[in-house]
Amino acid sequence: MSLVMNSETSGLDLVGKLLDPASRADPYPLYAGFRALGPVWIDEISALVVTGYHDCETLLRDPRLSAERRRHFDAAREADPYPPDAPSSVRQPWFLSMDPPDHTRLRRLVSRAFTARTIARLEPYAARLVDDLLDQACERDTFDVVSGLAYSLPVTVICHLLGVPAADERLFHGWSAQLTRQLDGFSGPGDDGKQWAGGMVELHRYVNELVADRRRSPRRDDLISELLAAEDGGDVLGHDELVSTIVLLLVAGHETTVNLIANGVLALLRHPGHLAALRADPGRAPAVVEEILRYDPPVQLTARVAREDLHVGNAKAPAGGLLILLLAAAHRDPEANRDPDRFDPGREQVRHLGFSAGAHFCLGAPLARLEGRVALAAFARRVREPRLVADPPPYREHINLRGVSELLVGHGARG
Ligand code: HEM
Repeated sequence: MSLVMNSETSGLDLVGKLLDPASRADPYPLYAGFRALGPVWIDEISALVVTGYHDCETLLRDPRLSAERRRHFDAAREADPYPPDAPSSVRQPWFLSMDPPDHTRLRRLVSRAFTARTIARLEPYAARLVDDLLDQACERDTFDVVSGLAYSLPVTVICHLLGVPAADERLFHGWSAQLTRQLDGFSGPGDDGKQWAGGMVELHRYVNELVADRRRSPRRDDLISELLAAEDGGDVLGHDELVSTIVLLLVAGHETTVNLIANGVLALLRHPGHLAALRADPGRAPAVVEEILRYDPPVQLTARVAREDLHVGNAKAPAGGLLILLLAAAHRDPEANRDPDRFDPGREQVRHLGFSAGAHFCLGAPLARLEGRVALAAFARRVREPRLVADPPPYREHINLRGVSELLVGHGARG
């Protein structure tokens, strides 16, 4: 897609184009258009769009901004979308959307159970899973990387970690697809709040039962039991906080990691030299993952609400206004990364905000990195002479959690 910018092109024009599903395959020229405008307040959507790397990074750490996005949206949204008999946990906000001190308290408690050591122990399990998935996928001359590899890995790993019975995993595939809208926050046209509300209620009912079961018979080897036992100076997670956190872990880590793996395979297939280098040296996988998080990030943007009037460059956001931080545009700010439009896992320094920054820095980053590394290294090692069947592949409608709906790959022999 090419974008012709002229002095008349406004922020609103660019937002209109971004909402158009035709932009999904390559929104980067639009992001460059936003960067050319600088920070810009767009009255029609009551939002200030920020694309500079330094600005985004600074704002993510600025206490004058709130992560309680409901402050901005509530007035515009319908009232409570949940039925009266929904479990109370469904109305418990995620700590992703909380500010200190509540955010600090919950995050600290969850961090006690969701530790780097717990995650590192998962590597052999994830590696076996990826090998099994690729065994099955490579049986066919052409396979879909999304359904055959990227989709299953994160949901199976997080269910295993939490202690969700394997037989119930398939339930999560359906829920996850419905709930991504909630997390996306910027779903494309046709968004209907009721669609995800039903999925959310079902998932909460399921997790409520799971927690009740673990209370009756605690185990020592799963994250739900560890979250139940997590304690910080006498403080513990309340029941609804616990259920809501488990739902957050299930949802936040799924579509994001699917996109990391699929975007990674896509970039490697478009740059066969880097694919060959990864095949020759699997030790390059962490650098490939970091470059994907920069070049084609699974989370394209995040948002905050101004607590008070504030200025970014020459633009001003009034108190209550939304700040849209276009992370994917910031990653291609030439002041942050040299030659930013080039996919180059060999770059000396990669600067990205793919996991955000500041207090809300992704809690699941070690898990996402592990899964991305294991999946991409195995793809390079196992799939011989891979080629893209369609380029560009089809994309889902999500603007924020942007990703392909299908990634068909033909290949030569079985690895
Ligand atoms: C927060 C990205 C995988 C759990 C975030 C944020 C981003 C992000 C950008 C912060 C949003 C903001 O500042 O508004 C990603 C990406 C992933 C990924 C790109 C995959 C490639 C995961 C996984 C999990 C997870 C696997 C857990 C299983 C969380 C949680 C938060 C979070 C709990 C909230 C942290 C807080 O508010 O303190 N993630 N994430 N994420 N992520 Fe991830």
